[in-house]
Amino acid sequence: MRMVSSSVALAASLPLARAAATIPQYVYDYAPKVWLYSTDAYRPSDLQAQLDNTTPQVNWTAIEGAPSPLTLDNLDQLNDLGNTSVYLTTAGGIAARPMPSWLFGVTPDSSGNAGNIHACAIVVNDHGSGAVDAFYFYFYAYNKGDKVLGLEFGDHIGDWEHNMVRFSNGEPQAMWFSQHASGQAFTYDAVEKDGQRPLSYSGNGTHANYANAGQHDHTIPGIDLPDGPLLDYSDQGVLWDPTLNAYAYTYDASSGTFTAGDDNTPVAWLNFNGGWGDDQPKNEKTIFGQAEYVAGPNGPKFKTLNRTEVCPSSPCVVWDAIVLAGNETSI
Ligand SMILES: *[C@@H]1O[C@H](CO)[C@@H](O)[C@H](O)[C@H]1NC(C)=O
Ligand SMILES: *[C@@H]1O[C@H](CO)[C@@H](O)[C@H](O)[C@H]1NC(C)=O
Ligand SMILES: *[C@@H]1O[C@H](CO)[C@@H](O)[C@H](O)[C@H]1NC(C)=O
Ligand SMILES: *[C@@H]1O[C@H](CO)[C@@H](O)[C@H](O)[C@H]1NC(C)=O
Ligand SMILES: *[C@@H]1O[C@H](CO)[C@@H](O)[C@H](O)[C@H]1NC(C)=O
Repeated sequence: MRMVSSSVALAASLPLARAAATIPQYVYDYAPKVWLYSTDAYRPSDLQAQLDNTTPQVNWTAIEGAPSPLTLDNLDQLNDLGNTSVYLTTAGGIAARPMPSWLFGVTPDSSGNAGNIHACAIVVNDHGSGAVDAFYFYFYAYNKGDKVLGLEFGDHIGDWEHNMVRFSNGEPQAMWFSQHASGQAFTYDAVEKDGQRPLSYSGNGTHANYANAGQHDHTIPGIDLPDGPLLDYSDQGVLWDPTLNAYAYTYDASSGTFTAGDDNTPVAWLNFNGGWGDDQPKNEKTIFGQAEYVAGPNGPKFKTLNRTEVCPSSPCVVWDAIVLAGNETSI
């Protein structure tokens, strides 16, 4: 603990004590479980580990005066040192081989627990009148893109994906599955469940969320076709219970503020405006506008947390059966 000489300095150096937010129990009772792909090498990953293994850079240059060590409690200070141009950058670059072991994350055990890591953020937006959206953000240190005509596209360091469950008076109504730039929505009744908990299937390498196992073409955003040039695969590989590795928050849309569910939960990182992995390499060649290596994504605050519909944008189709969403084939 640092000594401070005046109460003014004390006030400036400590975050304001704020009462912990109450996370409704139903947000846990109906939290999705995630089927990770059986042979996916890239598993859920610890948020702090991402900071420990990277350096904040702007234009591939380390930021002078960046907080050190970088923590989930001070990450937002980078907003004043480059804002959206800041990228949490690996020492060896995305093409480094062999890949450092931390990029592979942690495989959950037989109880769905990935151990002593935080790889999920639950964010609750109470719209009032019993309407509550619970977001479940999943973090993976690495996204391995899909192959098209033998070429690989869209690898990036840092990967944020999410489900969102919309509640009415504590009853789940519908669920959003993030998939690449877009996603799909289903009624709660339509989705597969483990008990009352909905299931999400994580695409091999890309971690896009699907409502079922199989092969998914995601060439057309929001439409899940069984075949096409850009394929994701999902199966019942390893079942992850993200609530066992989660921090939980409420989100106040009018002020844009997050409040932690308990005093031990860091908040500042949610306000970070930069990228969670390396920027796109400068000399990266693109084919049809697509690159093998792309920039790391920004965080949960950019995922339209205050939604009118279950989807982040309109029009929003909420499917009432999974088969309507696409003709899936088992693999
Ligand atoms: C899934 O990804 C792993 C590597 O993470 C790879 O070895 C395997 O071939 C992939 N499977 C499919 C069906 O793409
Ligand atoms: C980025 O750095 C390079 C030198 O490495 C410099 O030529 C370029 O102007 C910089 N770009 C920006 C936007 O600052
Ligand atoms: C920093 O980025 C955020 C998010 O895009 C933006 O809203 C804000 O205006 C930016 N701040 C500055 C000083 O440019
Ligand atoms: C949040 O969304 C609600 C609709 O549910 C809307 O009435 C409100 O104006 C939005 N708030 C902000 C700050 O955009
Ligand atoms: C899926 O497509 C195949 C042909 O590609 C068709 O034979 C089958 O009936 C379809 N199944 C469903 C459930 O739509």
